Amino acid sequence: MKIAVSGKGGAGKTTLAGVMARILGGRGKKVIAIDADPDSNLASALGIDDGTLTKVKPLAEMEEFIAERTGAKKGQYGAFFQLNPRVDDIPERFSLQKDGVKLIVLGNIPRGGGGCFCAENALLRSLLSHVMIERDDYVIVDLEAGLEHMGRGTTEHIDALVVVVEPGRRSFQTARQVRRLADDIGIKKVYVVGNKIAGKEDEALVRDNLNDLPFLGFISYNEKVIEADKLGVSPFDLDKGIREEVEGILEALEGLA
Ligand SMILES: Nc1ncnc2c1ncn2[C@@H]1O[C@H](COP(=O)(O)OP(=O)(O)OP(=O)(O)O)[C@@H](O)[C@H]1O
Ligand SMILES: [Mg+2]
Repeated sequence: MKIAVSGKGGAGKTTLAGVMARILGGRGKKVIAIDADPDSNLASALGIDDGTLTKVKPLAEMEEFIAERTGAKKGQYGAFFQLNPRVDDIPERFSLQKDGVKLIVLGNIPRGGGGCFCAENALLRSLLSHVMIERDDYVIVDLEAGLEHMGRGTTEHIDALVVVVEPGRRSFQTARQVRRLADDIGIKKVYVVGNKIAGKEDEALVRDNLNDLPFLGFISYNEKVIEADKLGVSPFDLDKGIREEVEGILEALEGLA
């Protein structure tokens, strides 16, 4: 299954993506977790420590490798380069592993009006297509807020776009906007997860405001999640409560997607 996680800034995308990946990895599944947020922090939600993280550069910054595979230098516009570079070895060569999860950090994905045709973009797009289409691994993509950077070709293979919302108007607005964008780029399965839910009222608020979208479940407001962030460990390793809630969300996903 291929899952992308979206939502407003700070809603809990990385937390959910990290815990989902660890649960699946813990079950012995093959999991590729992709950090597609330029402000990357999925590693810490997976429980990969900073020391280990520094051993791998974000893919978009691997200038020599990009040049080798595409035949063009980073940021070179209008030059001739390979549009379908070889990428099938990237998940094994350039990922960090944690308990069955391979983490790939994309880094800053270049954009430009009408799509940016630079070399690093060609490489990243090819990689996304490869893991979505040719691999049977679970793929979990932690997106930055918004969907503008994803285009046709990669997103249409996503089985589920999970929008994380917290109780609040701005978060609901973002969810609706994500749904419209998803429609535009051909993602049909858009689901909601309510996060930071402090009680029945919060849950009702989220349900009432997004009643036209299917819900996968709710995650309670949880001090342990904040503590995990402070300690630089995965909430998966710190708290059984969030683990069980996310297991329920995965179960709902398996049933729907
Ligand atoms: N259920 C929860 N209870 C309490 N705090 C939470 C919960 N989920 C996430 N948080 C906290 O909210 C903050 C944002 O979470 P997270 O980084 O997962 O969000 P994000 O949507 O990925 O943010 P960004 O847009 O910056 O990438 C973190 O400090 C995290 O610890
Ligand atoms: Mg995040």
